[in-house]
Amino acid sequence: MNLIKKAAEDISKAKMGIALTGAGISTESGIPDFRSKDGLWSRYDINEYGHIDSFKKNPAKVWMMLREMISLMNAEPNPAHYALAELEKMGYINAVITQNVDNLHQEAGSKNVIEFHGNFKRVVCTRCGKKKGVDKIDMENLPPMCECGGILKPDGIFFGEAIPRNAYLKSVALATKCDLMLVIGTSASVYPASQLPYLAKGSLTKPKGIVIEINKETTDITGIVSDYIIEGKAGEILPKIVEEIKSITS
Ligand code: APR
Repeated sequence: MNLIKKAAEDISKAKMGIALTGAGISTESGIPDFRSKDGLWSRYDINEYGHIDSFKKNPAKVWMMLREMISLMNAEPNPAHYALAELEKMGYINAVITQNVDNLHQEAGSKNVIEFHGNFKRVVCTRCGKKKGVDKIDMENLPPMCECGGILKPDGIFFGEAIPRNAYLKSVALATKCDLMLVIGTSASVYPASQLPYLAKGSLTKPKGIVIEINKETTDITGIVSDYIIEGKAGEILPKIVEEIKSITS
């Protein structure tokens, strides 16, 4: 059977579907991912720029990369984000757990979005904890500072930092409970988000869930955790799935 049709049938039969998304869902909005050929980590050394210790050691240097990343995030949602929002509205997707910090799911209309790695559209003061919109700060002189004199940091996490507690607990609960997970545009290689498809898949104490990958290439979980992969661009595949669901349920 055609995999778009199969996914549409699986999604329409699921009692509790959720999605786990990664940077690949936003590449069609013009935001590069991390590990593809032209991804962020091909241009910036992940150890020098991606770890909280590097930020603490040289915040101005890391903010140079962050400023570029944040300016690229001035992008519009693409058809993949809108399709997921529509699946939620139609009652097929209960929540989107995203590793992305670009806010595009929310901008596309998804309501139940779990920010697993935080959100870079906000900053937080490393001294007083005050948060504000990134659009409210001056990025001319780096690192940007809070009125209290503390250094501002994006309200998301670096390697070496814990996943925001509520986001972690909610995601684990959802992945454990769901009977279908769409894993979209993620290499599924970064712990602990990479474990969520395993939870969805099932265990001795949980009935088997269906795990469907949508990715332009295979990943570490393809054929191991995922039941099948629909290879291609998320922005082309997801709208087709929505149309197919509409045609089988009308
Ligand atoms: N459609 C579908 N898949 C795509 C598309 C697209 N248009 N473009 C890219 N992809 C896929 C790539 O094939 C790759 O498997 O998206 C995936 C992106 O993987 P990564 O770059 O590793 O991004 P992600 O999985 O989100 O990374 C996880 O790593 O550095 C950290 O904190 C960062 O949240 C990020 C985490």
